[in-house]
Amino acid sequence: MPIATNVRGALERASWIRRMFEAANKLRAERGDALVADMSLGNPCNEPPAAFFEALAAEARDRTGLRHRYMTNAGYPEVREAVARHLAGRTGLPYEAADVCMTIGAAGALNILLRTLLDPGDEVILSSPCFVEYPFYVENYGGACCMVPPGEGLVPDAARLADACTANTRAVILNAPNNPSGRIYPERFYQDLARALAIRSAQLSRAIYLIFDDPYHHLWFTERPPPEPARSYDQVLYVSSFSKDLGLAGDRIGYVAIHPGAADREDLRRALPFALRALGQVNAPATMQRVAARLIDHPRDDVRAFYRRRRDRLAGALAEMGLEHPPLDGAFYAFPKCPEPDDMVFCRRMLDKGLVLVPGSAFATPGHFRISYAVDEDVLERGISILRKSL
Ligand SMILES: Cc1ncc(COP(=O)(O)O)c(C=O)c1O
Repeated sequence: MPIATNVRGALERASWIRRMFEAANKLRAERGDALVADMSLGNPCNEPPAAFFEALAAEARDRTGLRHRYMTNAGYPEVREAVARHLAGRTGLPYEAADVCMTIGAAGALNILLRTLLDPGDEVILSSPCFVEYPFYVENYGGACCMVPPGEGLVPDAARLADACTANTRAVILNAPNNPSGRIYPERFYQDLARALAIRSAQLSRAIYLIFDDPYHHLWFTERPPPEPARSYDQVLYVSSFSKDLGLAGDRIGYVAIHPGAADREDLRRALPFALRALGQVNAPATMQRVAARLIDHPRDDVRAFYRRRRDRLAGALAEMGLEHPPLDGAFYAFPKCPEPDDMVFCRRMLDKGLVLVPGSAFATPGHFRISYAVDEDVLERGISILRKSL
């Protein structure tokens, strides 16, 4: 088979998720949409705001010349400037346009970072539960993952993460609001992690970067917006996108930003756009870059209200069913404890009843299941009803 060994291995590991999605499609074809509740995907169900369509229309009308050609790999200077200004406003840190590289979604940003940082055999530390794609991305560049179990309430454990770092460790990847747990981590955790990683970096004579993957940043339901890890730790390489909050996942626009205090800031400024080029991505989509710059400071209250309605409904239903879960702080997922010992068997049983979930094992956290509330309200009701009847 003309497929590289490591790709074959990854395909094999990913195949059961694919099989589940195929089974869900088959079920829909057999029973019709009205009897199936697909709550497996993190695909936003919010329409982008009116301001997006206005920005897009303005871009389409603008014929001032050659606005759809290649540009410098890192993206348009004025777009990078807008992102830097936005991050400076949020963190109080002096981000500059040169710290920002526009990318093909958060996924593109993670890949150019890992391409930049990893030599074969280097390690990346992850905290379970985490996004299913991280190990695949790390393996793309010959890296190895070390999965560290979380502490109380599925918040990562700062000491355990630092202890897991070895001479080969290049980075820790974290994401909060978290996919799949829905958790936002407290400021205190980032302060502890910063101290622990600074000590470990000094012992190992090597900067340990924190790749902070934040595509759900604006989807928070707590009293305050999520803390900014860059305020606690200088080695933060920040990743975000417009996929989830603005409902633009298919339009593929995101960015990476280097902390103004990061080790090797100048080298990183040069290397990230080169990695983007070397990976054949060339540059992030031109029109979407300009649209993103127009929308970066757009208020997100409406989209928060949109998902909060679904979140509150699901949280109430889970409580009635007696299903324990970590607090639904943000993103659009709940991650309840599985009511039976094997989460894979449970999800298979739910699938047969028409409810598509993802077992916690997919996120290195058996004993849980993920339920996405990025669905229409009628699907949410159907899903709740199937779950209730099946318990
Ligand atoms: C935690 C996390 N990171 C990154 C991504 C990829 O986001 P994007 O669509 O912006 O590439 C996702 C998408 O599901 C995600 O959940």
